[in-house]
Amino acid sequence: KRVALLISGGGSNMLRLVESMVGDHPARPVLVASNDPEASGLAKAAALGVPVASVDHRNFGKDRAAFEAALLQPILAAEPDIICLAGFMRVLTPSFVRQFEGRMLNIHPSLLPKYPGLHTHQRALDAGDIEAGCSVHEVTAELDAGPLLGQARVPVLQGDTAEALAARVLVMEHKLYPQVLRRYASGDRSPVYLS
Ligand code: GRF
Repeated sequence: KRVALLISGGGSNMLRLVESMVGDHPARPVLVASNDPEASGLAKAAALGVPVASVDHRNFGKDRAAFEAALLQPILAAEPDIICLAGFMRVLTPSFVRQFEGRMLNIHPSLLPKYPGLHTHQRALDAGDIEAGCSVHEVTAELDAGPLLGQARVPVLQGDTAEALAARVLVMEHKLYPQVLRRYASGDRSPVYLS
């Protein structure tokens, strides 16, 4: 399976995914693309020999469709079977999602369906949750709401700040996403649960 990965920043999740696709893994990375040409994950991907591309969303103002049409170029040229959103911070329109429905994954830093959207860790702390975590789901037109493919839980500890909780969750993201991708790329859509 050919996997394209979309990032917006450091790409730590993308790196774990690229590093996992070796040996008898059923998938291989064919492109890492970003909405930010300065995303430091692009250089890391290139250093691993993965083709990269970027389309600066700031060149398109509010015209989301035009940005996505530009981003689609390198993605379609790479002919991916699967798209992994990994720290990709742009909301995709339903028309973009429709082109990849059933073969686009995203990782979100909360125990969905709790806390879709942003500032997930602070919201969990404010709610007094004793657990937090991350979820991998299939991307559908509704934000952070598609079928669950994996979830990992971490404890919320006394005195946790959002940063401390985010760091604890990120460790689990790096464990969860590669396991989900390997299972998903082998055709198994049963969810992975870690804690
Ligand atoms: C992570 O918190 C992840 O949950 C969210 O984007 C953040 C950065 O991810 N999706 P990465 O280091 O760019 O993979």
